Amino acid sequence: SVLEMEVEQINKGKYEHYMQKEIHEQPESLTTTMRGRLIRGGSCKAKSVLLGGLKDHLRTIRRSRRIVFIGCGTSYNAALAARPILEELSGIPVTMEIASDLVDRQGPIYREDTTVFVSQSGETADTLQALEYALENGALCVGITNTVGSAIARHTHCGVHINAGCEIGVASTKAYTSQIVVMAILALAIGDDTISSQGRREAIIDNLFDLPNKVKEVLKLDEEMKDLAKLLIAEQSLLVFGRGYNYATALEGALKVKEVSLMHSEGILAGEMKHGPLALVDETLPIVVIATRDACFSKQQSVIQQLHARKGRLIVMCSKGDAASVSVGGSCRVVEVPVVEDCLQPVINIVPLQLLAYHLTVLRGYNVDQPRNLAKSVTTQ
Ligand code: G6P
Repeated sequence: SVLEMEVEQINKGKYEHYMQKEIHEQPESLTTTMRGRLIRGGSCKAKSVLLGGLKDHLRTIRRSRRIVFIGCGTSYNAALAARPILEELSGIPVTMEIASDLVDRQGPIYREDTTVFVSQSGETADTLQALEYALENGALCVGITNTVGSAIARHTHCGVHINAGCEIGVASTKAYTSQIVVMAILALAIGDDTISSQGRREAIIDNLFDLPNKVKEVLKLDEEMKDLAKLLIAEQSLLVFGRGYNYATALEGALKVKEVSLMHSEGILAGEMKHGPLALVDETLPIVVIATRDACFSKQQSVIQQLHARKGRLIVMCSKGDAASVSVGGSCRVVEVPVVEDCLQPVINIVPLQLLAYHLTVLRGYNVDQPRNLAKSVTTQ
């Protein structure tokens, strides 16, 4: 009806689509996610974090033999992005499970495990089924959802709400960045506050405080990503290469592109390049390479050189000021992003890819907020 349409326009504010609004809202949604959870530390108090929904269970989590992240789609990717920092700060092995696959295999889950269920809606059928399975096996079950009162929030033993605000676009954007931030805070909460980790912990907390500003900065790439979308509008396929902290960025960037713009896209672990994907490289196939500064930077530089040697059509995402060190022969397109602590860099790096997916979709004339065949919340199997 006319009234419904007007209400929709009011909800979207100055934006044309919910996905666009939700991408641009991320400085605010991240601020809400972190509210009350970071403690700046006074004269003698150290910087620390607080997750009210977990505080009675932290001892049990710290003593668990393994942490298992379980989710689907974007929520799985967010957990993958947080995995390295959780392993680093907790020293506990962290494994990843796609919910449906865990259920298909009836994979081993033990009483000594902490299972973490990540779900924006809190209602995804596959994730719920995996939760029932973990409960039967006696594991501690932690929920990370965006929906208070959802099935996953109710059936887990404890959990954290990401408080990103209602997300309407079928393609998850602001929930993804808020999930990563909550899991980084979880890593800080589980990890011991030892002298040797203090510098690292404080750097992460300082960077979390500043993260909304850095997201504001990276959102300024909007026009640049629209220009890139114009260039790629008629392509058949797009590859995204990442590794380390940004393996998840590659998977999630490719997922955004395929789900909304209906262009084939694959996220590829750069370390696997020589074991197959290299065969696809030619002068025509566009390839995004994520090569921001972290411990994997020199390896990514060599990946760029090898792709270039095969005449790959490269679009390189690098840290601000690094354009010259990544652009081999000055030939590839470069997207420069602001630098944050390595474990938080995935929050920054996904934004240009969200913008790219959005613009590609609008330019190709497809429905951004409700892509064909997809649903926001998959409550049946
Ligand atoms: C569907 C949605 C995705 C989402 C996935 C998991 O496929 O289209 O955007 O990432 O479900 O949803 P959840 O609510 O469990 O995070």
